[in-house]
Amino acid sequence: MLTQIVILGASGDLTSRKLTPAVFNAHCQGLFPGPIQMVGVARREWDDAYFRQHLSDAMPSDQPLEQGLWEEFLQHVSYLRAHLDSEEGYAALAQGLDQLAGGEAVNRVFYLSIKPDLFLPSVRGLHGAGLLQQAYQEPFRRVVVEKPFGTDLQSASTLNRALLELMGEDQLYRIDHYLGKETVQNILAFRFRNAFFEPLWNQKHVDLVQVTVAEDMGVGSRAGYYDESGALRDIVQNHALQLLALVAMEPPANLDADSIRSEKVKVLQSLRPPEAMIADPDPHIVRAQYEGYLQEDGVPVGSLTETYIAARTYIDNWRWGGVPILIRTGKYLPARFTSVQVQFRMPPHSLFGSWAECHLRPNAITLRIQPREGIDVHFEVKEPGSGQNMRPAALTFDYDSLFGRRPEAYQRLLQDVVAGDQSLFIRSDEVEASWRWADGVRQVMDQMPMLSYPPKTWGPKQANALFRECEGMWSKE
Ligand code: BG6
Repeated sequence: MLTQIVILGASGDLTSRKLTPAVFNAHCQGLFPGPIQMVGVARREWDDAYFRQHLSDAMPSDQPLEQGLWEEFLQHVSYLRAHLDSEEGYAALAQGLDQLAGGEAVNRVFYLSIKPDLFLPSVRGLHGAGLLQQAYQEPFRRVVVEKPFGTDLQSASTLNRALLELMGEDQLYRIDHYLGKETVQNILAFRFRNAFFEPLWNQKHVDLVQVTVAEDMGVGSRAGYYDESGALRDIVQNHALQLLALVAMEPPANLDADSIRSEKVKVLQSLRPPEAMIADPDPHIVRAQYEGYLQEDGVPVGSLTETYIAARTYIDNWRWGGVPILIRTGKYLPARFTSVQVQFRMPPHSLFGSWAECHLRPNAITLRIQPREGIDVHFEVKEPGSGQNMRPAALTFDYDSLFGRRPEAYQRLLQDVVAGDQSLFIRSDEVEASWRWADGVRQVMDQMPMLSYPPKTWGPKQANALFRECEGMWSKE
């Protein structure tokens, strides 16, 4: 049966940069279970030809574009001009979509590539026009929402409740594009398909877990959005916590979506609660803004939005009790990389004398999420010679050398939406548990001074104390 992928807000950047290449590649490789139509919907006075040309012009230059395939793909692309601010607008959309389907039964995915305050009105409009009602199995009706899903616990749960009155949780796909990255999906395979690591993966052996999302650019043209959000809401509440949940969760009963998500949500619910963070006299939270942020286009005078945050927290459960979890992210740092580092305790007894001991670095495993995707296992070796000098060494796995080019995150996510697999999408209880924790951090953070850091440096010096344990590895990235 035909599936229509209907993008609301199709004139935006996301459609041309991410969604179109994703649909194109999946289509060309035959990865959708049946035929598809991609339908762009927006207010602009465009038509099919204009929309297709716009997509052709905007196709990212790193996309291998075989002209014949692209031309064939464009035959499956249409544009519907719509004013989605009234019942009539949605009724016209329903009619337009039916026409495109040629009166046949059709599956529909609605991708909401629109401002978050329009999520609910749009879903109401789609529902009112009968576009979300689905019979027992087919044809299906699914809705994909981008982040941010709410701005705090209260708004997220209000949004959840309102959306779930209009459709089932099984119809709602909340995107965190990090979950579409192969390296992120590999965390479960790495942990649960290998026998080496899991016995060590707990508070008896692990000293520290560190999640880092470093970006080397400023806010650029996105200041309007970013200033409302800040690093905590933009990265930590979603991408960083999702990484942490995968790294810290218990093995799921099986690989179905709810088994995985039920284990992830337990981690998020075990994060140290806001009351405990607020009561902590030394909360280990640092916030900062890069110098020059206030002069960026669109940033309000005197803005107190953080572009950097570093926080130490704990997962209060049996596996992780007492292990510090360090999360940090920042814009305009010297490099762009995302990694999770699990650092192990030092050996219980020092055999190699004081020189070797004080130069010893702990064993660690680094999951390199991006770029240079891979995994490193760090350990120490003895330098040749009569002394006992130690050197750091690593066993390294690189995705590029083993697998070559991999699909973009959005491709996998869109394939899964069409296939009806929700494993890589966030369930309502996960969103709420992450906001509950992030709200606590925000309350504490708002009491902390707003520090500053020069662009292209590793954030404010005051954060160093939090991270001194792994300074070496961090600066090496
Ligand atoms: C987005 C944030 O969710 O993730 C951006 O809104 C950030 O601010 C981006 O730059 C990072 O994604 P990636 O895949 O480039 O690490």
